[in-house]
Amino acid sequence: MENFTAYNPVKLRLGKDIVHELGKSVQKIGKKVLLIYGGGSVKKNGSYDDVMGQLKSIGAEVYEYTGIQSNPLITDVDKAAELGREKNVDLLLALGGGSVLDTAKVTALTIPVDHSGWKFISGEAVAKKGIPIISVLTLAATGSEMNMFAVVQNPETKEKKSVWSPHCFPKESFMDPKYTLTVPKNYTGYGITDLVAHSLEAYFGKGGSSLADRFVYSIIAEAQEYGPQLMNDPDNYDLRAKIMLAATYALNGTTIIGKAVGDWGVHAIGHVLSVLYDVPHGASLSIVYPAWLKFQMHKLEDRISELGENLFNEPDAEKSIAMLESFFESVESPVRLQDLNIGEDKRQEIIEHLVRNKATGNVHKLKDEDYEAIVDLMYAAR
Ligand code: NZQ
Ligand code: ZN
Repeated sequence: MENFTAYNPVKLRLGKDIVHELGKSVQKIGKKVLLIYGGGSVKKNGSYDDVMGQLKSIGAEVYEYTGIQSNPLITDVDKAAELGREKNVDLLLALGGGSVLDTAKVTALTIPVDHSGWKFISGEAVAKKGIPIISVLTLAATGSEMNMFAVVQNPETKEKKSVWSPHCFPKESFMDPKYTLTVPKNYTGYGITDLVAHSLEAYFGKGGSSLADRFVYSIIAEAQEYGPQLMNDPDNYDLRAKIMLAATYALNGTTIIGKAVGDWGVHAIGHVLSVLYDVPHGASLSIVYPAWLKFQMHKLEDRISELGENLFNEPDAEKSIAMLESFFESVESPVRLQDLNIGEDKRQEIIEHLVRNKATGNVHKLKDEDYEAIVDLMYAAR
């Protein structure tokens, strides 16, 4: 086991109508609120009306920054920060999925400074403070509601990268599974894929922790049992709640306890697909994971076999990867680039961007010459 520090200050509140408590929480921080959300979904699932009702009840002064897109942009962060600075807001209220939460996180770091939020992502600046954030989550996937990471992309440099800062932790996160009932089937599946991928990034990280491994198996077992059920019964509140909780715990520190660091190489490759072809995050991961595992087989066979035994009762590493792939398909997440109509004419472009972005893991380092084989596996016949 590695030396280890656990820290997670987020007050998590999950349950039906939990947003009725929002006003009190906002009031404790301040009155001037910058509300950030995406396109129209929050107006259809009732969350916008509930949130506005709460803000009205405490007489909050509300400014809105909207239109955050999936695979969020640094340009929106900078514009939202400008508005926040101009109005001197007390807090940010993020209403939506991971893209909205991540935008709010980087905006929180950017409001107090006079440069683009990208400097925090590129590593040119380190955040010394942040505006407080409260989140109301409407999509189960990223775990952003209970972690200190944020991922945004830069349309100019064609990079998608993350920042982590203790100032990115939301003060509180409100999670009412009923808001996720309207999440379309494709994003429901991608969210399930994402939570499995987060567990695996921890599993293939540095250090041995049997307890962390058992958390990984349990979280993935939830996805295995309830993911396909939810795909067939998307209006089921209890199934939505189970997946929501599993997604939060897949990336709130639980799966990494006693370990030094997760790998995150699969995410780095997935981000390149997202920035090039606007691939939804979870969809990129179900394509990259099988390819990455096959590529790492010579080095990680025992570890993959242990995973297979625990998840599928299948000790053969190759068969385990095939079963993981079938699981991704069972939640309607793509497993080859062709499934997203990304033809082989894009092969070279993808390789070039992987090299340029140095898309590698923290532990299992990839060399420039490795990408060809990985990309070929993402195109391989089934
Ligand atoms: O824009 P709207 O209209 O809100 O539509 C959104 C969006 O089109 C829609 N949606 C959200 N809640 C809904 C809903 N539609 C109907 N009903 C609802 N209740 O879903 C679409 C996708 O939303 P998005 O926020 O992009 O999805 P997700 O939560 O999967 O977030 C993905 C982003 O998070 C990053 C990803 O890279 C990606 O940019 N990640 C963040 C992480 C973190 N902060 O810890 C870790 C992850 O590995 C990931 O990288
Ligand atoms: Zn992810």
